[in-house]
Amino acid sequence: TNKVTIAGGGSGYTPGIVLTILENRASFPVDEIRLYDIDEKRNSDMKVIVQYLIQKNGYDVSLKATLDPKEAFENTDFVFSQIRVGGIKMREIDEKVPLKHGVVGQETCGVGGFSYGMRSMKGFLEMVQHVQDYAPDAWILNYTNPETLVAESVRRQFPDIKIINACDQTIAIEELIAYSFGYERENWISSYYGLNHFGWYKAIYDVSKQKDIMPEVIDQIVNEGFKTDQLGESWAKAFKLMERMVADFPTHIPNNYLEYYLYPNLIVEEADPSYTRANEIMDGRLKQIEEAVEKIKSASSMDEVDYESNSHGQYIVDMAVSLLNNENRRFMLIVPNKGAIPNLREDAVVEVPCYVNAEGAEPISLREDIPDFHKGLMEAQVASEKLLVDAFFEKSYQKALEAFTLNQSIPNAVIAKRVLDELIERNGDFWVEL
Ligand code: G6P
Ligand code: MN
Repeated sequence: TNKVTIAGGGSGYTPGIVLTILENRASFPVDEIRLYDIDEKRNSDMKVIVQYLIQKNGYDVSLKATLDPKEAFENTDFVFSQIRVGGIKMREIDEKVPLKHGVVGQETCGVGGFSYGMRSMKGFLEMVQHVQDYAPDAWILNYTNPETLVAESVRRQFPDIKIINACDQTIAIEELIAYSFGYERENWISSYYGLNHFGWYKAIYDVSKQKDIMPEVIDQIVNEGFKTDQLGESWAKAFKLMERMVADFPTHIPNNYLEYYLYPNLIVEEADPSYTRANEIMDGRLKQIEEAVEKIKSASSMDEVDYESNSHGQYIVDMAVSLLNNENRRFMLIVPNKGAIPNLREDAVVEVPCYVNAEGAEPISLREDIPDFHKGLMEAQVASEKLLVDAFFEKSYQKALEAFTLNQSIPNAVIAKRVLDELIERNGDFWVEL
């Protein structure tokens, strides 16, 4: 059986992830779960909820919450990383500072993503160091954002660490397509290429129909639109704009996150600079969690509490199972390019389909060049992200300014500098000193 450490145990996603782990115990046996965080209150709050869920469902597993890296990582088998350096409060700053200057404010795209990225690289590399020290054989399954930046920094500092970088957005997109137009996603073999939150489907081969259904899906997206009734308001909005993106560029299906680069003006017009996604989350899921903690703590018996959590993160457990059992399941993962996309620089960190087996992620080569439109957009994005990672390691203001200026959501160097300077100030010690 396995031990799992959840890095970023204080996250609101923790109860859902733990439930998924335990629901899958037949294929993924786990006897110990450790919650690790640097925020004592949030970590112990999550322990309260998780302990409640374990008891309620009658699971047999030991649970501990700790701030001590040795206790958290020693001899662990898997590290699920969902750390968010600076928490939701800093997410709010990532979103609001750029908006104040009239540019996209989002946690993973544009310069909001760069602000978060500078914090993430610092916190994540510290975490990887602990894994290296206390559990060098453990697999890190990482979904800490912004993923390309984090993956690139790990590749530079810990080239041999066992890590798989994964994002669930392609799964979310495929599930929405399947739900909207009546397909079974289990029948699909998808071809996709790009960077994280920045890519395109090339084909969706449906085994039951024995053909590529992408052309008909494109028609359906443009003519019928997605069924967004199961989504929250902000995701529904994002997928509305994705319909427009497909109509304007109907050769491929894009990742919805590309709208931050293709339609930054529309995004900024629609945004409320004083109430962003961070505020929605603080008022929504974080509040619910706080209430649940209070209820559980003050209840005299479990029967008084009726807290329910959705399970979350099935793909992470699926990856762990594929690693453990050498199953070669196929996932979209974030890996060094090394020719997977033949006409893109080798040292880019790309998102492509990969097989996951006992040795880790094995990327599938596209074998064909990608179109100039996508290549041009990606080259600029890769260069901009590489410059930011350089800025981080070299503590270089100059490189950071170049990264910000090159970011495709930024119209000119004047604004790049203004936003950068304000983000330096607002991030303080969360960033390395430039
Ligand atoms: C998707 C993305 C993640 C992102 C999340 C944001 O799952 O792939 O990278 O973190 O959405 O969701 P939130 O509810 O926090 O805005
Ligand atoms: Mn993601």
